[in-house]
Amino acid sequence: MSENWIYAMDDTALLEGHMAAVYPLGVNVLIARVGGKIYAVSGRCVHMACPLFTGHLEGHTLTCPCHDWRFDVRTGRFLDAAELGLAVYSTKSEAGKVFVNLN
Ligand code: FES
Repeated sequence: MSENWIYAMDDTALLEGHMAAVYPLGVNVLIARVGGKIYAVSGRCVHMACPLFTGHLEGHTLTCPCHDWRFDVRTGRFLDAAELGLAVYSTKSEAGKVFVNLN
């Protein structure tokens, strides 16, 4: 996988147990911090494209606000059917900024 690190947000703006919508290069990405780690997945639900950042995050489980589909923010996997899932992006925090790799 090639590296294409794009600035997403300031690290201090992402609190533990919270998530945020960011749009690096116009891509809709949801960023979450759980257990001190930062995860990034597609910001649009694979069901009917609802904005996932308005959903609920409990532990690593992200619940869509529209029809309660649940995903693991670590893997993007839909918890009720392993063949469905969200795109997952790698992240890094450097110099107080969070970056995502869109490749
Ligand atoms: S749009 Fe997310 S569960 Fe339906």
